[in-house]
Amino acid sequence: MTSSYGLRGRAALVTGGTRGIGWAVARALRDAGARVCVSARDPDEVRRAGAELGGVGLAGSVADPGHPEALTDLCLRSFGRLDVLVNNAATNQPYGPLMDADPDVWREAFAVNVEAPLRLVQCAWHGWMREHGGAVVTVCTEGAGHVGPGVGAYGTSKAALLHLTQQLAGELGPGVRVNSVSPGLVRTEMARFVWEPGERDIARELPLERIGEPQDVARAVLWLCSDEARWITGADLLVDGGTRVRAARAARPEPGAGPG
Ligand SMILES: NC(=O)c1ccc[n+]([C@@H]2O[C@H](COP(=O)([O-])OP(=O)(O)OC[C@H]3O[C@@H](n4cnc5c(N)ncnc54)[C@H](OP(=O)(O)O)[C@@H]3O)[C@@H](O)[C@H]2O)c1
Repeated sequence: MTSSYGLRGRAALVTGGTRGIGWAVARALRDAGARVCVSARDPDEVRRAGAELGGVGLAGSVADPGHPEALTDLCLRSFGRLDVLVNNAATNQPYGPLMDADPDVWREAFAVNVEAPLRLVQCAWHGWMREHGGAVVTVCTEGAGHVGPGVGAYGTSKAALLHLTQQLAGELGPGVRVNSVSPGLVRTEMARFVWEPGERDIARELPLERIGEPQDVARAVLWLCSDEARWITGADLLVDGGTRVRAARAARPEPGAGPG
């Protein structure tokens, strides 16, 4: 990715920026010339990511009460500004039927997936964006649009996050744009339990015939953060290889299968 997209010299904060989609987003923003601050729970990984990005990082859970403010303060102290916020960190727990969901783990899912993104936007707004403007992107999921086995807590919290994103977009214009991306299945640790056993079959059903890579999502996030998207707010950009439209795909023969 070589285009700066108007991001050169700006400051960006990416939660969950040490691996997977967040790491790809952090690198894309750095490559576009932004100064980047990341957070995640594992302190060694935060140190490594911050150093590789030539930026800064803070270890901790986004759900911890003091973390959003400490993180935005670090960004403002280090870079003197905070133009871009990418709310990417999430949990897919509690996994399983909702009748078995532990209420404390359910609450934690909402603290990480919904409350923390709001608190981070509040901190970014009060600390910088209200006066100077900015762009926020939340990472939702293609799955927020429908139900599925085992993912009741995750899907419900991501549906809430999507609604939150659109509500914030309406409230924070014209200075601050707020959008989301909704990825389909992407090759990361969080989704390994899905793609590792089933990748070939899943890819064969998709119009674009492969699962996603973190960079596929990062390109979309980068564009939404950039001035190229200056008249876009409240949008949800599906980045799913055609997952939503796969029902229209004609059945494909097994690779190697020939006539009769
Ligand atoms: N992969 C997919 O197929 C897929 C599909 C749709 C949507 N998404 C969404 O994409 C986003 C990124 O997921 P991913 O697949 O890239 O996951 P991942 O590879 O597991 O990476 C998650 C990142 O978030 C950090 N993190 C997790 N919990 C955190 C917490 N409480 N506080 C701070 N950081 C935390 C992790 O580091 P630590 O463990 O060190 O905290 C890591 O840096 C999530 O919002 C997810 O819901 C993923």
